[in-house]
Amino acid sequence: METFDAINNRKSIRGYNDEQITEEELSAIVEVANKAPNAGPFHITVIQDKEFLTEINDKTKIKMLASKGFMKERASMPGYEPLYNAPTLIVVSTPEVPFAEINAACSITTMALAATDLGLGSCYVVSPIQTLVEPDVLLRLELPEGFVPISGLLVGYESDVKIQSPPRADVDNVNYIL
Ligand SMILES: Cc1cc2nc3c(=O)[nH]c(=O)nc-3n(C[C@H](O)[C@H](O)[C@H](O)COP(=O)(O)O)c2cc1C
Repeated sequence: METFDAINNRKSIRGYNDEQITEEELSAIVEVANKAPNAGPFHITVIQDKEFLTEINDKTKIKMLASKGFMKERASMPGYEPLYNAPTLIVVSTPEVPFAEINAACSITTMALAATDLGLGSCYVVSPIQTLVEPDVLLRLELPEGFVPISGLLVGYESDVKIQSPPRADVDNVNYIL
């Protein structure tokens, strides 16, 4: 796939098959995180333990349902699961330093494009972060000292059954100073 095809074909996938991605696909995706624009340290954790993923999903859903506004609305949708049954969750963690969230976003976006290039579905997620920062869950991530989870990327094979996303609206948000 050409670069522009990957950019134009990437979209958030909100429904996955049980089948795990291959080790080759996972390595290819994780490796590009360190090719993204970057201004500081980050750490990548790959979670594929099914029981742990279910626990993260269920705890996140409970928190979302107990919240207000958009999060609660999303979690109340029929069939909504925060991890959408994805078999792989890649978590990017950083220390509390300037540009931490930007560094995480750059690496996640680059990995999402790699996943698209490989024909895999992906979805940038922050909703599970509220669960991953719980002290007992955080310990199980075995992160370097001082690192905290910032963003996640779900990866897997796209299911026929999924929450459909509305097409991206055309927006007029560019100006030129010539
Ligand atoms: C910082 C950030 C956090 C996001 N968190 C979530 C999330 O928790 N759950 C989810 O389903 N999508 C999440 N998304 C995906 C956005 O909803 C999605 O990218 C946006 O609606 C555009 O749709 P597209 O990715 O299909 O083009 C997040 C995206 C970003 C950039």
